[in-house]
Amino acid sequence: MNILVTGCAGFIGSHLVENLLDRGDVVVGLDNFDNYYSKEIKLQNLDNILKNKNFYFYEGDIRDELFLESIFDLNKIDAIIHLAARAGVRPSIELPKLYCDVNLIGTTNLLEFSHKFKISKFVFASSSSVYGNNSSFPFKEDDIVDYPISPYAATKKAGELICYSYHHLYSLNISCLRFFTVYGPRQRPEMAISKFIDLIRKGSEIEVYAKGQSLRDYTYVQDIVNGILLSLENSNGYNIYNIGGGKPIKLIDLISVIEQKLGINAKIKYLDSQPGDVDITYADSSKASELLGYNSVVTIEEGIEKYIAWLNEK
Ligand SMILES: NC(=O)c1ccc[n+]([C@@H]2O[C@H](COP(=O)([O-])OP(=O)(O)OC[C@H]3O[C@@H](n4cnc5c(N)ncnc54)[C@H](O)[C@@H]3O)[C@@H](O)[C@H]2O)c1
Repeated sequence: MNILVTGCAGFIGSHLVENLLDRGDVVVGLDNFDNYYSKEIKLQNLDNILKNKNFYFYEGDIRDELFLESIFDLNKIDAIIHLAARAGVRPSIELPKLYCDVNLIGTTNLLEFSHKFKISKFVFASSSSVYGNNSSFPFKEDDIVDYPISPYAATKKAGELICYSYHHLYSLNISCLRFFTVYGPRQRPEMAISKFIDLIRKGSEIEVYAKGQSLRDYTYVQDIVNGILLSLENSNGYNIYNIGGGKPIKLIDLISVIEQKLGINAKIKYLDSQPGDVDITYADSSKASELLGYNSVVTIEEGIEKYIAWLNEK
């Protein structure tokens, strides 16, 4: 298949592209090296991929319709996996318009080109953040998600809605995947696990919000990629799937795992919770399991070990 991957230079995108190339797909990747974190890191993410003759890279912005049109004119595309977004909960509170612009206008542009160029398979990267502070656990796809507590979460819910409209109007097959906190090699530098490991290794203090009591359903990046590939293979109509590990742990217990795997004790400064942060994320991924054959297999202990091994090899 010829697959367009948006946000291909990012954390999840670069792993996904490697998997697609390994199984023989042709990948058209686009990324604008957005300044959320350094371009250098993203270029490193692309390092191996750029050498592959089945990979075609375009630098540009999903808000730029002429740029997008040129990609669709020049390449035969069978499916789109749309990962490009302004990610991150807390910064979305400072820059809500930018988040709406990239995550909503960008997504609508891609859906519009899907329709125009008759590309019937579309995968949209949604997020567990749409569940906000829902009080029944684990989260299920048919829970009410009308109360996002950050602009980022609101843009992901809105993305799911505009995807539905395009499915309804033009019969596009669309899977919206609600990823639960993804970690592993190349994790974005501002995310808790990569930041904590970096600071603990340097002997620096880490700031732990919500006094370490928040629960997160951490999901290893290869499990997420497997979920994306399965949703593409089984693309049929409009579906929302949770893609999560299903075993949430407290932040303070996560730090213990990191300390144990690094063999270093963390210096911890406890702080109150931050606006926009949810207390708990906990995936019920049984729909993905039943309909797609998805199962998350990497435990948090194994995943942290793999991540540290990757850092040591760099
Ligand atoms: N990492 C997680 O825990 C997580 C959880 C839930 C959902 N998601 C979603 O998964 C997707 C990938 O996340 P990630 O963690 O790999 O983030 P990332 O920031 O590493 O990757 C996103 C990529 O998109 C690119 N991009 C941003 N704006 C763009 C634009 N306007 N035009 C073109 N490219 C643009 C960035 O340069 C970056 O390379 C995002 O949609 C994110 O919201 C991630």
